[in-house]
Amino acid sequence: MDQKTMKENAGKAAVDALVQSGMKLGLGTGSTAITAVRYIGSLMKQGSLKDIKAIATSFQTELECEKWRIPLYSLNSSEINGGLDLTIDGADQIDREHFCVKGGGGALLLEKIAAYSSKAYAIALDETKVVDMLGVTFPVAVEILPEARVFVCAELAKLGAECILREAARKAGPVVTDNGNFLVDITFKNAPGRIYPALLEELINHIPGVMENGFFTRKGPHVFVARADGAVDVWD
Ligand code: A5P
Repeated sequence: MDQKTMKENAGKAAVDALVQSGMKLGLGTGSTAITAVRYIGSLMKQGSLKDIKAIATSFQTELECEKWRIPLYSLNSSEINGGLDLTIDGADQIDREHFCVKGGGGALLLEKIAAYSSKAYAIALDETKVVDMLGVTFPVAVEILPEARVFVCAELAKLGAECILREAARKAGPVVTDNGNFLVDITFKNAPGRIYPALLEELINHIPGVMENGFFTRKGPHVFVARADGAVDVWD
């Protein structure tokens, strides 16, 4: 089974298990999260899912919700009032403690806010993304204020990170996020021992100029891991 189909299976499994009519939903970003958005849209179109109110974590998700006529709100709106029932998102990698790396699609800031403003949090991904150690084979995105670039990279280097400013494709210069910031991709390839995602998440966010980083260590996510044989494992 190809990875695209596995992503669809994971997204659908998360929706089938957790989404109910009347929910306030946080909708993640990336190719896996978008499969969940499309599935929610199709269930709403059939009439089997009603009264959904959603927030989008990126322009990508916003555009997909528009296509599927999923009602979108601001997290600050009186309808959402800063609190969601459930957020469904994808991830770039996950470890056995259910900690994730996110931000490959550049949308980590709103994704993190959605994750922490939700009562329940679901991560859908395929088995190729399960790893023993985060931060080594796939970079961790750090969203930074452009003016703080050199300072932040020097501070990240003190934590053992190698930093690369993310370059845009089909636009000259760096990626500018949906929030007008830059992204630095960091790895800990030469870390002497284990790296500790929860500690690094906190330490990186303490650097002035960092808006957010792609280590996601929120406790108790519902994890849906699609396998190549077609099954979906659920880690609770
Ligand atoms: C978006 O910024 C990311 O956090 C995505 O959730 C992550 O990159 C996974 O993307 P895919 O589902 O496209 O692999």
